[in-house]
Amino acid sequence: MEQITIAGITVPRTAALAPMAGVADTPYRTLCCEMGAVMCVSEMISAKGLCYNGRGSAELCRITDAERPMGLQLFGNEPEFIEKAAVLLQEYHPDWIDLNMGCPVPKVVNTGAGSALLKTPDIAAKCVEAARAGGVPVTVKMRIGYEAGSNVAVPFAQAMEAAGAAAVTVHGRTKSMLYSGKADWETIAAVKAAVKIPVIGNGDVTDADSCERMYRETGVDLVAVGRASYGNPWVFREISARLQGEPYTPPTPEERMDVMLRHIRMILAHSEKPPALAIREARKHASWYMTGSRNAAAFRAACYSLSSYEEAERLAQEFLAANT
Ligand SMILES: Cc1cc2nc3c(=O)[nH]c(=O)nc-3n(C[C@H](O)[C@H](O)[C@H](O)COP(=O)(O)O)c2cc1C
Repeated sequence: MEQITIAGITVPRTAALAPMAGVADTPYRTLCCEMGAVMCVSEMISAKGLCYNGRGSAELCRITDAERPMGLQLFGNEPEFIEKAAVLLQEYHPDWIDLNMGCPVPKVVNTGAGSALLKTPDIAAKCVEAARAGGVPVTVKMRIGYEAGSNVAVPFAQAMEAAGAAAVTVHGRTKSMLYSGKADWETIAAVKAAVKIPVIGNGDVTDADSCERMYRETGVDLVAVGRASYGNPWVFREISARLQGEPYTPPTPEERMDVMLRHIRMILAHSEKPPALAIREARKHASWYMTGSRNAAAFRAACYSLSSYEEAERLAQEFLAANT
């Protein structure tokens, strides 16, 4: 199997899990890593919040052995807070620190952070320099531009490289595109050709076919997969199998329900909330495991009213009765 070294860490050249706030938490990342995701990144953590709350962000920062290699992702645009936060994060022993320069959410962008940094490469570069105070490699997760039609990907990635970034992940969309439209893989290829640091390609990889295509068309060092792993951690197994020339068998309905129930148990065990509240966090995940099945709409709707683990077990039985 071909190997690749990114931020000093050598992994099989298959696929990483992309960071997803509100989705890719410890239980989710653990399952994806078990199924073959070769590295992962935390949900985004506010640099300023970390500096002010101290331990308030602990749940977001914790890393378990099953998730490694793993980076912790900071967002912010003030180098002094980034520097302090990068040092504070060392308590959690991240394998690297990733800086968010792609988030399109107004609450983040309006402060000048996330994808707004694409408009201020000098400040973005200072953030990279500041984050290096943590003593671990610093990587950058970026989009290709801010407004529709403005493509700053190549000079921006070069500026991040010059500031000391160990790698860049490029999501092939502008901020204005949010998550719709087609990801621009040509620009990802242009970034790969323009920098010496490893480039991780991201956007619209949904299965082994599209992953192979992204490697072929862009030449990226590694691919990161986000939304295609919703209710489908097997996407990493499928990709690894393909790239190792091994056969892949999709999960049976029984396996889907086993993993769904295990995922819910992990959410309940990991959450600091009481079970009645934690089960709410499990609803969307449960519904994603039902996608593509017979009667999917009805099953998915039923997931959104789950109020206990026992109900989830009963629903899994009904799902199996309808799908086997
Ligand atoms: C619900 C959700 C939350 C996300 N949160 C983050 C985040 O915290 N940090 C980040 O860098 N990107 C975040 N992203 C962007 C993804 O990492 C990824 O770039 C994007 O989904 C495109 O990849 P995909 O087509 O494989 O999903 C998020 C995406 C989604 C859908």
